[in-house]
Amino acid sequence: MATVLITGGAGFIGSHTCLVLLQAGHRLVILDDFSNSSPRAVERLAELAGLIPTGPGSWGDALRLVQGDIRHDHSLDLAFAAAQSSGPAGLDAPVEAVIHFAGLKAVGESVAEPLRYWDVNLHGSRTLLEAMERHSCRCLVFSSSATLYGYPETVPIPETAPVQPINPYGHTKAAVEMLLADVAGCGAGATAEMESPNGWRIARLRYFNPVGAHPSGQIGEDPDGIPNNLFPFVSQVAVGRRPSLRVFGSDWPTPDGTGVRDYIHVMDLAEGHRMALEALLAEEPQLLTLNLGSGRGISVLEVARAFEAASGRPIPVELVARRPGDAAVTVADPALAARRLGWRTQLGLDAICRDGWAWQSANPHGYAA
Ligand code: NAD
Ligand code: UFG
Repeated sequence: MATVLITGGAGFIGSHTCLVLLQAGHRLVILDDFSNSSPRAVERLAELAGLIPTGPGSWGDALRLVQGDIRHDHSLDLAFAAAQSSGPAGLDAPVEAVIHFAGLKAVGESVAEPLRYWDVNLHGSRTLLEAMERHSCRCLVFSSSATLYGYPETVPIPETAPVQPINPYGHTKAAVEMLLADVAGCGAGATAEMESPNGWRIARLRYFNPVGAHPSGQIGEDPDGIPNNLFPFVSQVAVGRRPSLRVFGSDWPTPDGTGVRDYIHVMDLAEGHRMALEALLAEEPQLLTLNLGSGRGISVLEVARAFEAASGRPIPVELVARRPGDAAVTVADPALAARRLGWRTQLGLDAICRDGWAWQSANPHGYAA
């Protein structure tokens, strides 16, 4: 059992990971500024974990919620203090590890507002690393992304594939990966598995396409405005918030002509974080870089059909031009995560659509309802 600081723990992937960690017996402090999430996500995950509220932002000796910004030393120090303090204010146990989800993630927005992306994603990560040094914590799991691979040269994509992002969001993720390699003492030649001469334990987890929701339908993805990503868009069509799905390209070199991605159930992803965290804490200092994906490719039309079947609602589709910046196919080679963590995805497309629909149908307007 460890005490873990979770930045961005109220967000989509963070909330599901917090639930899995609490159920495994870990103690958590969540730091989030709610710029893209709601405190209701934390209340709901705490309830799912069977925790009883003991005060504002406080659930016994298991969970604390701190509202604040990762770019501010003061917020970070408050979060570390919420773990260490004794009595009702704290968990009475110093932070042993950090899982760093907080950041901005919309590709199109990153093109329009590159400075904000560099500020939150890179400056925020650096400020966090400095706080970790101040509080003698050298164990970090970082949310990286398959976006680093840009237009991949080989599919399935191994971790050794070139890092060649094609948008500002991807550039910020690549920059943080480099920063982490330097902090670990592994430098530019970093490969997927390296010892850290500086005594850091770091996992850089490159997610493919995280989708779905907790099977209870109580927590899920709650995008702001019109969704850019396929799954939230499809589920909003099913629930009647959007008339039809525009399929971006039907002339890709794929079996049905539509784009192919490696969709991963968010509960599988959450398990991957738990296993990475526990491996880091148990093993010698290292820098580990892992793809988290299923290794299976699914097309846009397959997603639309599967969601129709799960929801019993029609998903009308309109075939339109390709979206600039898209690749035809991105699929993970997940062999290294299987070997290093014993992790592989358990849940397929049917479970993804079933659980995504459980969330969307129970919460048509997300946490705002
Ligand atoms: P999300 O937006 O749902 O969660 C991010 C959380 O961070 C939100 O709760 C937000 O309020 C918080 N946050 C943002 N800026 C902050 C700041 N300055 N200080 C404190 N909190 C802040 O996103 P998500 O889908 O859960 O993604 C989590 C991480 O995983 C991100 O770093 C993202 O880049 C990465 N990632 C996501 C995907 C994906 O498709 N969802 C894919 C690959 C990587
Ligand atoms: N698509 C449509 N219509 C839509 C939305 C998407 O046809 O309305 C298609 C896309 O063209 C693509 C597929 O659905 O072929 C998946 O698109 P998403 O936008 O859901 O996902 P991406 O693979 O483009 O990118 C996402 C995140 C990235 C992240 C990447 C890998 O947006 O930030 O997954 O994790 F890096």
